[in-house]
Amino acid sequence: MSSSLHVPLESLTGATRRPIASPAPGRAFHIETFGCQMNVHDSEKVSGVLLERGYHPVDDPAAADVIFYNTCSIREKAAQKVFSRLGLHRGPAGHGKIIGVLGCVAQQEGEEIFERAPWVSLVCGSASYRRLPDLLAQIEAGNRRVMGLDTDTDETFETEITRRDNPFRAYLTIIEGCDKACSYCVVPFTRGPERSRASDSILREVGELASFGYSEIQLLGQTVNSYRDPSPRSMTFAGLLLAVADTPGIRRVRFTTSHPRDFGPDIVAAIDAHPSICNHVHLPVQSGSTAVLRRMLRTYTRDEYLEKIAMLRAARRPISLSTDFIVGFPGETGADFADTLSLLDAAQYDQIFSFKFSPRPNTSAEHMDDDISEAEKGIRLAALLDHQREIQLARNHSLLGEAFEVLVDNRGHKPGQWAGRTTSNRVVNFPSPRTDLLGQYVQVRVVQAGPNSLLGELS
Ligand code: 5AD
Ligand code: SF4
Repeated sequence: MSSSLHVPLESLTGATRRPIASPAPGRAFHIETFGCQMNVHDSEKVSGVLLERGYHPVDDPAAADVIFYNTCSIREKAAQKVFSRLGLHRGPAGHGKIIGVLGCVAQQEGEEIFERAPWVSLVCGSASYRRLPDLLAQIEAGNRRVMGLDTDTDETFETEITRRDNPFRAYLTIIEGCDKACSYCVVPFTRGPERSRASDSILREVGELASFGYSEIQLLGQTVNSYRDPSPRSMTFAGLLLAVADTPGIRRVRFTTSHPRDFGPDIVAAIDAHPSICNHVHLPVQSGSTAVLRRMLRTYTRDEYLEKIAMLRAARRPISLSTDFIVGFPGETGADFADTLSLLDAAQYDQIFSFKFSPRPNTSAEHMDDDISEAEKGIRLAALLDHQREIQLARNHSLLGEAFEVLVDNRGHKPGQWAGRTTSNRVVNFPSPRTDLLGQYVQVRVVQAGPNSLLGELS
C-alpha cells in the first residue's frame, strides 16, 4: 500500500497552533508513504516538522525541492519498492532536489542507501525522527549527507504540529517500537524497543483533536495493548481506552494492532462498558498451528489464542474480529496449514490479511530453511483466501436487514453512492442524492451482502 499525502494547509492540527513561518518560495516538499498505519501517521508528523520550518506541501514530486519516501521493510517486496522510486531521481532528474529515505528501510539499510543511490542526502529511521529538524538544518547549511539511525532512545516522537491527512479519523501513536521477538519480524530492529507515551499527554491531545472537530480517534502501536503508562498515573490500556472514550466530542475510539498475549478481559470489559469504544479487534494470529507458532516465537499456542477469541465472543456487544496470517513459514507442513484453515472456522473473522513468508534481514527466521516454494506459498495463500471468502459471505449474509450507524467517509464505488464505516469496521455502500453526507453519522440498513461488501439504504 502506498499513499501520497496531500491536504490543504488549513487542516493542520497540533499541540499548539503556533504561527507557521510563511512558506519560502521554492521550498516545496512531497512525501510518499508505504506500509502500515504507523508509517502513515509518522508521515503526518514529519509533514508537521517540515511545515514548521517553512516548507509547503505539493502533490507533484516533480515540483518538490524535498522528496521524502517513508518506507516499509516488513516484506521484501515492500522494501524493493523504495529503490525503484529512488531510481527515478538518478541523473539530471534529481539535480537540485533533496531526496530523503525515512522509516524502516532507512533503519535497516542505513549507510548502504547512500552507496546504492548516491543522490540521496538524508537517511533517517523512525526512532530518530525527533532529530529531523536538526538533520534538515544540516542539509540546509550545505551538508550533502546526513543520517539518523539510533534506536537506543526511550523517547517517542512528538512534534509541535502534526498535519492530519484524514479529515474524519485522527491517528495517535501511544506506543512506539516492539519488545516482542517474533522470529520473522523486522519491527523490533527497525523501530527499536517499546516506548509508551504518558497518558496525560495523550489525553491532552485527544481533547485538542476533539476541539478541532475530530470525533473518531485511532490509537496506534505495533502492540498497542502492551501500552504501559510511564507517568505516575500508571493507567492501564483499558483505562486509557475508557478515558479517551469519555472525552467530550469523541464518538469513536479504535485501536490497532493488538498482541494476543497482552489481550486481557479488562479490554473486553471496556468495550462492553463504553459504546464509543469500537467493537472491532484486530488480533493477528499468524498461524493456526501450535508448532509453527512456537517457531515464530509468538508466545501463545493455538488453544491459548482460541481462548482469547472465546473471551471476545462472550462479550455483551458483538465484536468484529480481523487478523493477519503468514503462510509458508519455514517447515510449515500440510497438516500445519490444515490447522490454519480450521482456525478460520473456529475464529469466524470478518476480515483477514494474509502474506507469504518473506525472509527478512536482522530476524531470527532469516537463517531458517525457507523450504516452501513460492508456488506452494501461492497455493496456500489462495486456499486461505477462498476458505475465508465463504466465511465472510455467510457472516455478511447474516447482517441482512440489520441497521447500523455509519460514519460517512467516502464516495461509494458507483455514482450517487456513499460509503460509511460501522463501529465494527464494516464498510457499507449506500445510494443517496444528498451531497452533504461526508463526515456525517447516519443510520443505514443492510439490503445486500457479498463476501467483501455490504450494500445498504438510508433508514
Ligand atoms: N513475511 C511475511 N509476512 C510478514 N509479516 C511480518 N513479517 C513478515 C514476513 N517476514 C506480516 C505479519 C504481520 C503483518 C503486519 O505483516 O502477518 O502481522
Ligand atoms: Fe513484529 Fe511480533 Fe512485534 Fe508484531 S509483536 S511488531 S509481529 S515482533
